[in-house]
Amino acid sequence: MPELNVVTRDGTVKTIEAAADVSVMEAIRDSGFDELLALCGGCCSCATCHVYVDPAFAAALPPISEDESDLLDGSPHRSEYSRLSCQVMMVDALAGMQVTIAPED
Ligand code: FES
Repeated sequence: MPELNVVTRDGTVKTIEAAADVSVMEAIRDSGFDELLALCGGCCSCATCHVYVDPAFAAALPPISEDESDLLDGSPHRSEYSRLSCQVMMVDALAGMQVTIAPED
């Protein structure tokens, strides 16, 4: 299983295993991180699954949709590395990626 390195809001790094074909949000949530609320369950309507992705993996990420971008625009913590983790599916090309849970809005 591909691994993800998850950085929590206090800077702790934890490596988790992510099954293929689950979203990055699901992989993080199912590994017990309570900081990632993911309130809408992955419907791209809440933005509580906001993470910063590793720039080294930018080329392997799916393109950002208009809906995702609009939601991220509502966050004062948006950066060029922001993604909604429910919109990024785990694929082998993302193995080893670091994701940092964004500050709470
Ligand atoms: S879980 Fe709600 S937008 Fe990602």
